[in-house]
Amino acid sequence: MNRYKVAIIGCGRVSEKHLKAYSKLKDRIELVCVADTNTEGAKKLLAERGFVGVKIYSDYEEMLNTEKVDICAITVPSGLHYKIATFCLNKGLHILLEKPMTMSSSESKELYELSKKVDKKIAMGHIYRYFPIVGILRDDLASGSFGKITHGTICVRWGHGQDYYDSAAWRGTWKSDGGALMNQSIHAIDLLLWLMGSKAVSVNAKLARRLRNIEAEDVGMAVMELESGALAMLEGTTATLPSDKEAMFSIFCEKGSVSLGLKRGKPSLNIRNEKGHSMNFKYIRKQLSKGGFKSFSYALNPHTGIYADLINAIDNNTQPIADAYAGFTSVDTLMGIYRSAKEGCSVALPLDSDFASTDMQNFFEKV
Ligand SMILES: NC(=O)c1ccc[n+]([C@@H]2O[C@H](COP(=O)([O-])OP(=O)(O)OC[C@H]3O[C@@H](n4cnc5c(N)ncnc54)[C@H](O)[C@@H]3O)[C@@H](O)[C@H]2O)c1
Repeated sequence: MNRYKVAIIGCGRVSEKHLKAYSKLKDRIELVCVADTNTEGAKKLLAERGFVGVKIYSDYEEMLNTEKVDICAITVPSGLHYKIATFCLNKGLHILLEKPMTMSSSESKELYELSKKVDKKIAMGHIYRYFPIVGILRDDLASGSFGKITHGTICVRWGHGQDYYDSAAWRGTWKSDGGALMNQSIHAIDLLLWLMGSKAVSVNAKLARRLRNIEAEDVGMAVMELESGALAMLEGTTATLPSDKEAMFSIFCEKGSVSLGLKRGKPSLNIRNEKGHSMNFKYIRKQLSKGGFKSFSYALNPHTGIYADLINAIDNNTQPIADAYAGFTSVDTLMGIYRSAKEGCSVALPLDSDFASTDMQNFFEKV
């Protein structure tokens, strides 16, 4: 079995989850080098996590022109994703790209198309697709076990205080981050649409900035109509208590319902059949027989599941579970949400022209 050589660009908060994944997947992954403009921070992080002999660069281009790697993890501020991912794909590397894929619909489409052209994988950091039971539910919803899907909701109440936003200049800016929907909720939108097995064809949205001193939204709500005729609703916010983080989705169907979530780090599950009986244990058993105990451990660090899936996709020349297309469609939907809030009307999806999060500049100053 190949051991893939990996590089990381960006050694901040989320890169720790990547390092944890490498520790779990040592037989398949070797971290060779990292690049960060803050080399001291990178050095400290690697030492704390017990990674020795990893080369550290301040310039990612110099690193990738020097080192030979197979996979590059891109974990820099979101506004840099497009430029760095383009560079990596053109270098012939598979990438694990953090969410959101890019900050505009056209850039995401370009990356998706470039990955096909150069025949390299993009695995998106859409962690929710990698939680246990989610994949099985997706198959059962798609095969019609739950009957017709009427509607779905997702709420991401991922409280962050002002200290989080003040910890780095890029956080909460339209150019480099976006707000609670673009940063904290984009992978939740992806999850809901993926589970409901349909594309959004129109969206109505509202944004607010209630508590945090940032450029972008700290509360956002959207109602989407799907191609199937089902409706989907999103609530995303960082203006809730940081100590009471919660992410929860529910899907309602003709023959049952499905709810899955995390509250204060504890998972919750409520799967019902058409008689109202709980099917929780049936699904826990299904997950155990499909992926064993190991697959439940991905709930603790979904990035381990993302890397395991990317390795499998490279080995077998298949697509990762959260692939480049998922990256593109979720950004396109999110940009539709932003455009709807800006224009104050329903917006058709997919977008018929480019929209970028910088098009929201001064949005709250004008409302
Ligand atoms: N999938 C998830 O669960 C998840 C969770 C958190 C963050 N994220 C995403 O990960 C990305 C990074 O977020 P974070 O919270 O780790 O940010 P962070 O600010 O903590 O880390 C970013 C790092 O990138 C470095 N950097 C900046 N410019 C660089 C450049 N040109 N070259 C090399 N390094 C550079 C910074 O010095 C910093 O160390 C964002 O896109 C965010 O949306 C994903």
